[in-house]
Amino acid sequence: MAALRLGERPEEPGAEQRDETAGDDQGREDEHQFPRHASKMCTQGASAQNITRHARQVRVIALQSVQDAEARLRAAGYLPSTEIATSAFLADRLEKPVLVEGPAGVGKTEFGRALAQATGRTLLRLQCYEGLDEGKALYEWEYAKQLLYTQLLKDKIAETIAGAQTLAQAAERIAGSEDLFFSERFLLPRPILAAIRSPTPALLLIDEIDKADPEFEAFLLEVLADNAVTVPELGTMRAIHVPRVVLTSNAARELSDALKRRCLHLFIDFPTAQRELEIVRTRVPGVREELARKVVAAVQAIRKLDLKKAPSISETLDWVRALLLLNASTLDAQVVTDTLSTVLKYEADIAKAREHAAYIAGAELR
Ligand SMILES: Nc1ncnc2c1ncn2[C@@H]1O[C@H](COP(=O)(O)OP(=O)(O)OP(=O)(O)O)[C@@H](O)[C@H]1O
Ligand SMILES: [Mg+2]
Repeated sequence: MAALRLGERPEEPGAEQRDETAGDDQGREDEHQFPRHASKMCTQGASAQNITRHARQVRVIALQSVQDAEARLRAAGYLPSTEIATSAFLADRLEKPVLVEGPAGVGKTEFGRALAQATGRTLLRLQCYEGLDEGKALYEWEYAKQLLYTQLLKDKIAETIAGAQTLAQAAERIAGSEDLFFSERFLLPRPILAAIRSPTPALLLIDEIDKADPEFEAFLLEVLADNAVTVPELGTMRAIHVPRVVLTSNAARELSDALKRRCLHLFIDFPTAQRELEIVRTRVPGVREELARKVVAAVQAIRKLDLKKAPSISETLDWVRALLLLNASTLDAQVVTDTLSTVLKYEADIAKAREHAAYIAGAELR
């Protein structure tokens, strides 16, 4: 048994959790139908019951090739480069986590979402932050519910301790019912445990892992290695289906070699002009071709300037949407100057770009 230990209590035999409603252990079918409900978003505290309701309907898709991965990601609204589609295919087939790095706003989180949808997996997302601990990532006991039950059961509790001679005797009798309060009924699964226990194949998106503390990263490594979690009071819970895992990082801090070793690495950079144009067409339907081309060319030109923070895909999309609202049909130096604040987020960058407004407005896609 090589599962994560959260306490000292030894594992109880037969305590493994399996949900037989999930059916086939492999859970992988070559299914070419696109399940609309498949990427149900469950954030903190996913409800196992809700997921179970979907268990019989969900058909998980095994990616067949890089081309298949690309087509399915596209169908999920995500336009991948060949490198991204290759990582998606390999991660799915090798059952390895993918660590996605790259500048802000290039589509790291969206990749996780789209991959869940493309493969028909339930998406479970864990947003990392400083101080994130196992209680928020793994599971918690529902204290409020436990308290409510003790209130409602107070007559029964009184019966249990009736006749006890000493405080120790009374405590001993109450301890006999302890298991009731530390049972599945009061367990609140957080995203990692929810992914491990999900009766439907899941994709666990661990977003911005670089924001969590190094200790949390070490803890995560154990879970990723074992695909199992031990709750001292309940025993070891092994993955019903091995979840796919996507981790994202903005490189706020260097991640450990151990984590990198366990993951496929995918660096998403700013897109080529052609891919960015396609993304604009997909994300802002109805935009006129001329405006889309001008904005993409302008953003590509801005990225060549020496800036504190280069604009990303999200800023390109913001710019197009802002220009649509302003009824701009194309870009000229004045429009660029007036709307730069939707693309650049630092005053010094805006000032520098203003100096090059004519060059930015004049940029064309070849
Ligand atoms: N390949 C793509 N296809 C379609 N849309 C994309 C693609 N890449 C990025 N986007 C769009 O760009 C926006 C930003 O993407 P996302 O939030 O995933 O970026 P991120 O890299 O996670 O940023 P951050 O580091 O700030 O969290 C989203 O609106 C997303 O829809
Ligand atoms: Mg993100």
